[in-house]
Amino acid sequence: MKVKSAWQSILMSFVFLCSPFLLYVAFHDPHRCGHTNPEYGNFCEKFGNGEPGMGFIEDWHPIYYKPEQVQLPYFVQDTPAARQDVAAQYTTISRLDQGVGLILQELKAAGFENNTLIIYSSDNGIPFPSGRTNLYDPGMAEPLLISSPQPEHRHNEVTYSMTSLLDIVPTLLDWFNISYPHENEVKPILTGKSLLPLLVKEPAHDTGAVFASHSHHEITMYYPMRAVRTKRYKLIHNINYKMPFPIDQDFYISPSFQDLLNRTRSKKPLNWYKTLKSYYYRDEWELYDLKKDAEEVNNVASKPAYKNILLELKTRLDEWQKATADPWLCAPGGVLEAAGSFKKHPQCLPLDNF
Ligand SMILES: *[C@@H]1O[C@H](CO)[C@@H](O)[C@H](O)[C@H]1NC(C)=O
Ligand SMILES: *[C@@H]1O[C@H](CO)[C@@H](O)[C@H](O)[C@H]1NC(C)=O
Ligand SMILES: *[C@@H]1O[C@H](CO)[C@@H](O)[C@H](O)[C@H]1NC(C)=O
Repeated sequence: MKVKSAWQSILMSFVFLCSPFLLYVAFHDPHRCGHTNPEYGNFCEKFGNGEPGMGFIEDWHPIYYKPEQVQLPYFVQDTPAARQDVAAQYTTISRLDQGVGLILQELKAAGFENNTLIIYSSDNGIPFPSGRTNLYDPGMAEPLLISSPQPEHRHNEVTYSMTSLLDIVPTLLDWFNISYPHENEVKPILTGKSLLPLLVKEPAHDTGAVFASHSHHEITMYYPMRAVRTKRYKLIHNINYKMPFPIDQDFYISPSFQDLLNRTRSKKPLNWYKTLKSYYYRDEWELYDLKKDAEEVNNVASKPAYKNILLELKTRLDEWQKATADPWLCAPGGVLEAAGSFKKHPQCLPLDNF
């Protein structure tokens, strides 16, 4: 099968339509492979590689990595099983890379290279400990690359501004010159901002923050969290903090997680920056000073020196939850009443549950 030919026909239909288009392409590549039965390798890294039973993708040239050569991020334990797991993901990341290359080639061949804004990102962090399903940085940090066809825009530069996926919709509306109705006219309001000004220059003062929310992953994985991150600090509210942090099916059966379980059970060294117990049980409020503690291991929420920072970030998070009509606004200490006699002045009524 050729991935390329599928793209050619999609892009050619845009040529005939001759109208502005938004094409959203989602790759499965860096994901873990299925939920419980990774028959093509833990990251589907064998899918299409030509080995018996794996099929053959004609325009993919597999790249393999040696487990002992991979660079481990700080949140993955340094053990043979985890290294093998990371090496497998590198193979699918390189397949993703080649796939993106094919799309860019076809975009150019269809004549769209000089009028198309290209945005590359992902929906969550990587499926390793503290990554996907977490609001620690490995779970929140996503790639963001923007390529503008306009020569006067910045190219091959890095921005140090805080950006988030909530900025994508405002950016696209801005690019297509479409205005969004005022907040009195329509809900939801957009809390992100257009990223197009960043293509012109870096903002002089950036006091910006990005916000994140997570409520469910799989149906049994209820663990609501809300977070605000500035350049310097991260505040996470673990709303149902008395529950153990849930683990999803595909991550559970991964070599990395099985290795952590096996080592914990047999009391072997984990070579990890946490323990399973500290991973499962979290404080209600986690505040990290990322300048001193980029790995988010030293929760300073109860430290007197950070009292004002904590208060300021709690206020910002609360304002964002109000602006986005977050149903979890009052949890876990209260219940939000917003209808009937509370319609004009919604209130958090206390549960006396602590
Ligand atoms: C796009 O711009 C480049 C550089 O100016 C030019 O060489 C190329 O022919 C243009 N492509 C199209 C399809 O107009
Ligand atoms: C948006 O407006 C700008 C400035 O008027 C114009 O150059 C651009 O072509 C417009 N973009 C679209 C997609 O209509
Ligand atoms: C964990 O232990 C089980 C049971 O002994 C074993 O089958 C499995 O291969 C081990 N996995 C890892 C990644 O160490």
